[in-house]
Amino acid sequence: MTASSRPHDVVLFGATGFTGRLVADYLAHGAPTLRWAIAGRNRDKLARVKADLVKDHPALAELTVLIADAADPAALAAVAKDARVVCTTVGPYAVHGRELAAACAEQGTDYCDLTGEVNFIRDSIDRNHARAGQTGARIVHCCGFDSIPSDLGVHLLAEHFKKQGQKLKKASLFVGPMKGGISGGTVASMLAMLEEAGRDPRQRRLMGDPYALIPDRDKDRGPDRGDQMMAKFEPLVGAWTGPFVMAAINTRVVRRTNAISGYPYGKDFRYRESMVFGKGAKGAFGAGTFTAGLAAFVTLASTGPGRSILKPLLPAPGQGPSKAKRDAGFFRVRIVGESDGSGAGPLKAVARVEGKSDPGYGETAKMLGESALCLALDRDRLEPRHGVRTPASAMGNRLIERLRAAGMTFAIEN
Ligand SMILES: NC(=O)c1ccc[n+]([C@@H]2O[C@H](COP(=O)([O-])OP(=O)(O)OC[C@H]3O[C@@H](n4cnc5c(N)ncnc54)[C@H](OP(=O)(O)O)[C@@H]3O)[C@@H](O)[C@H]2O)c1
Repeated sequence: MTASSRPHDVVLFGATGFTGRLVADYLAHGAPTLRWAIAGRNRDKLARVKADLVKDHPALAELTVLIADAADPAALAAVAKDARVVCTTVGPYAVHGRELAAACAEQGTDYCDLTGEVNFIRDSIDRNHARAGQTGARIVHCCGFDSIPSDLGVHLLAEHFKKQGQKLKKASLFVGPMKGGISGGTVASMLAMLEEAGRDPRQRRLMGDPYALIPDRDKDRGPDRGDQMMAKFEPLVGAWTGPFVMAAINTRVVRRTNAISGYPYGKDFRYRESMVFGKGAKGAFGAGTFTAGLAAFVTLASTGPGRSILKPLLPAPGQGPSKAKRDAGFFRVRIVGESDGSGAGPLKAVARVEGKSDPGYGETAKMLGESALCLALDRDRLEPRHGVRTPASAMGNRLIERLRAAGMTFAIEN
């Protein structure tokens, strides 16, 4: 069966989870004519999700429900075979995601997810990139708050300089202010990654490698050395900054985009991310206390006894921020870019990426939902690039257009 003749445009796997439900609502509300299905391991829970959807959207009475466990390759192959796109919120991905990504690569089915787990993505590249290239599947990881604002924001800057005949050479992302919560699934994914890093020195080195996701880690390395770990005053924004937790995934995704797209940002491209805390003594205090708190959290969460102390204090799987908290959330990202100066001397520009609800849930449901819709419905407008891609290298300008139409800001300030 060709991808276009498959019965489902999109299958949402993990529709019973906290984020999966938000994505289901997003698709139900935003894509009334989509041919889609919900999938998961628990028939009763899926029936409840469907009943809730039908209350607000009676036309979904015919919505198909598919049963598959993340550990059952035959069931996953059947799900992938009947779909143009599988969109999954089943995490931790390093625990539950490997077989589904492989099934999609095998069946020539496009795929998008919300992982931020470098070890899982590296494994997916090594296992699935070549096969997905042969079958014509686009496997796109990191379609949430990590790493769409970073990846598409840098892409936007590069396109801006390209129109002026220049190449992006250097970019620094500053996140903040922002307000948002955390879900049990995200906590579980973070703790699983720290546990693996603690157990396996090879995985620990991989997670610390700024070029962890480029095709050949021994060759083609650029000039970046690592992520910001300390509080420091940043002249580019005139404010105090500290480490941004998601830099550990976002920077790797942006560097992969560059490497697999033929180096549109150049081989000497430099990229970093930090979190902004404000000016003066208050900013310095905020950056310093956040940096110390983060270091203490990572140290504690890297040990088994530490994780046992932390787990009861954090949300459990299935839990997450309330609707009121999600609606009160927001984020602002600025990416300060410099071009290579070919001909006329270096140009400077700032890309602005903003969202008006909780970044990890309200905005993430939008980003993942639009990624699935983009892969399913806009395939004729996407570059014919297959394999394990990044959001920018798979969907670039078309996804920016979709996210703007859905209320997010992607803009250039000179
Ligand atoms: N990138 C971002 O910005 C971002 C934002 C939000 C979340 N995330 C990631 O998204 C993932 C989900 O987070 P969440 O808070 O929504 O988690 P959650 O509420 O715990 O949901 C997990 C989902 O996975 C399903 N599941 C678990 N084991 C399964 C198995 N063996 N077979 C089939 N399904 C299985 C669960 O099904 P049951 O209901 O049957 O248990 C549930 O639907 C996490 O990895 C998190 O880090 C990323």
